Amino acid sequence: MSRKTVTVFAATGSAGSACVEELLRQDVFNVQVLARAGGLQEKSSSGLLNSVDTKQQRWDDWRRRGVVVKQADVTDHASLIPALEGTDYLVSCVPLFATESQYPLIWAAKEAGVERFVPSEFGFIYEWEQFWPTDNAHKTAARQKAFIRRVIELAGLDFTIIPAGLWIEYFMPEPVAVMGDGNTKISWSSACDVGRIIPHVLAHPASRNAVCPVAATAYLTWNELLDARERILGRKVERVYLGHEDWLKAYDETPDGPMKAIVGIGVSATECPEGMPLWAHWNAMHLPAFKGTPLEQLFPEYIEPRVRELQAMLGAA
Ligand SMILES: NC(=O)c1ccc[n+]([C@@H]2O[C@H](COP(=O)([O-])OP(=O)(O)OC[C@H]3O[C@@H](n4cnc5c(N)ncnc54)[C@H](OP(=O)(O)O)[C@@H]3O)[C@@H](O)[C@H]2O)c1
Repeated sequence: MSRKTVTVFAATGSAGSACVEELLRQDVFNVQVLARAGGLQEKSSSGLLNSVDTKQQRWDDWRRRGVVVKQADVTDHASLIPALEGTDYLVSCVPLFATESQYPLIWAAKEAGVERFVPSEFGFIYEWEQFWPTDNAHKTAARQKAFIRRVIELAGLDFTIIPAGLWIEYFMPEPVAVMGDGNTKISWSSACDVGRIIPHVLAHPASRNAVCPVAATAYLTWNELLDARERILGRKVERVYLGHEDWLKAYDETPDGPMKAIVGIGVSATECPEGMPLWAHWNAMHLPAFKGTPLEQLFPEYIEPRVRELQAMLGAA
């Protein structure tokens, strides 16, 4: 059977770059990257932007390692079709609040003969969150992401939806605001593991036209994760336990901006009805050989530096 070709959009982002690296390491698919030739406001989930130089270095490095980098005006249908021809699976890793940038790609992908579209999800199971009772900025993002899936289906493309729970690095600034009593197991995925697991999910036959909610790093309670962090760092990690009413109050008090969406995650997580979890552990069943980065390595090398970056950015804002 000939190798499938995977094209990654928003490849220089956190999840995108980890996905490209794992595609290269895994060596199961041909790898392409869709590079944006202008046309869209530069965004990122965290608010920290990649410089043009950093991106250029990534593209040059990937080219040397066999990746085909295709430039296109991603707002322009006519420019997108030739850039997507030859792609079997199109993986989008666009940042939070850039969901709408995927619309032109969907129909162009259809016309270019792409088989499957993997939209940028990688959080809660948005199909459910979109119907939660309390409106908030994160639920708006959930509704948009759920709508994108419908548009993919309308275009007649296959899809794979990959919810990934909470990205550890976003929720570790201290005092850590625990969602609820911290005793329910949830999915934890750091960006490096989100990107890493995507090619494995894609390579699995059960991922075609399926929702595959992963715990790419770990499936643990808040308390288990924070206890592990304390043990690894050898110090106490300050934490506060916030119930639904506390999250609602914090949400009302948070000014508009990326932080409001993060607090909205707490609002949604703490009104999650029994039996309708916003996460699951698909990889335990379907990808038992896939291992998240060990926490002993992840916390000192990946999480703590990112927490410092995020705190510095929020402090400067
Ligand atoms: N559950 C959680 O806790 C959590 C946390 C964070 C993110 N997420 C989700 O994970 C997904 C990926 O997020 P990420 O943090 O990996 O992204 P990111 O790192 O913020 O992505 C940045 C990259 O996106 C591309 N980009 C910039 N502006 C764009 C625009 N206007 N339209 C399209 N692409 C643009 C650029 O790559 P190129 O120049 O190479 O195109 C840029 O380097 C999102 O769906 C986000 O909602 C979930």
